Amino acid sequence: MENFPFAFILPTPSLIPSAHDNHIERRLSALRGQFSDQAAYERILAQEDTLLYEVYEIQRPHESGELLTGISIVHPGKVGSEFFMTKGHFHAVLDTAEVYLCMKGEGFMVMENPQGECRVEKLAPGEVLYVPPRWAHRSVCTARLEDLVTFFIYPGHSGHDYGTIEQQGFRKLVVEGEAGIEIIDNPRWSKKGS
Ligand code: PA5
Ligand code: NI
Repeated sequence: MENFPFAFILPTPSLIPSAHDNHIERRLSALRGQFSDQAAYERILAQEDTLLYEVYEIQRPHESGELLTGISIVHPGKVGSEFFMTKGHFHAVLDTAEVYLCMKGEGFMVMENPQGECRVEKLAPGEVLYVPPRWAHRSVCTARLEDLVTFFIYPGHSGHDYGTIEQQGFRKLVVEGEAGIEIIDNPRWSKKGS
């Protein structure tokens, strides 16, 4: 890979980077076991393996000293009462942080650390969110029609640990309740799936 400065633009309205190396699509089948209402999950999946979110990555070496950047687009929709969301992860190197800049849409970043502390922060255009080292993170789109689009930046050597969240889930869920958007305890949360 060439080691020269480079620039790209995030053209409106799509915000898809003018140059990118990798386009990841994650569909409902990739989040098996993550949504609380499993019957609703199976019903939707039987109809269509719906596209939940996409990531456009700018490739750099996955090494300390590098920064990885890109755009994450979570589409609007729900499984039961729970809004579409990313898989979510801890970084494999736990002591690595991440910054998100919300470019478009509305939603939340659901976060927790291994000590069990939780934070759910609102995402709206112009909001910059700092996710400190050791905090797992998942973005959730709560708009009815609009995508949630965020720009992210994190250290090159961070890696992704998806397994912990796949097994135990996040402690908090973002759902549409009778009073509107609600953040509730995850009734199915269990330490390492126990
Ligand atoms: O590094 C990040 O946190 C983001 O780039 C995410 O990878 C992106 O939002 C997709 O989420 P996930 O990796 O949990 O599927
Ligand atoms: Ni991350």
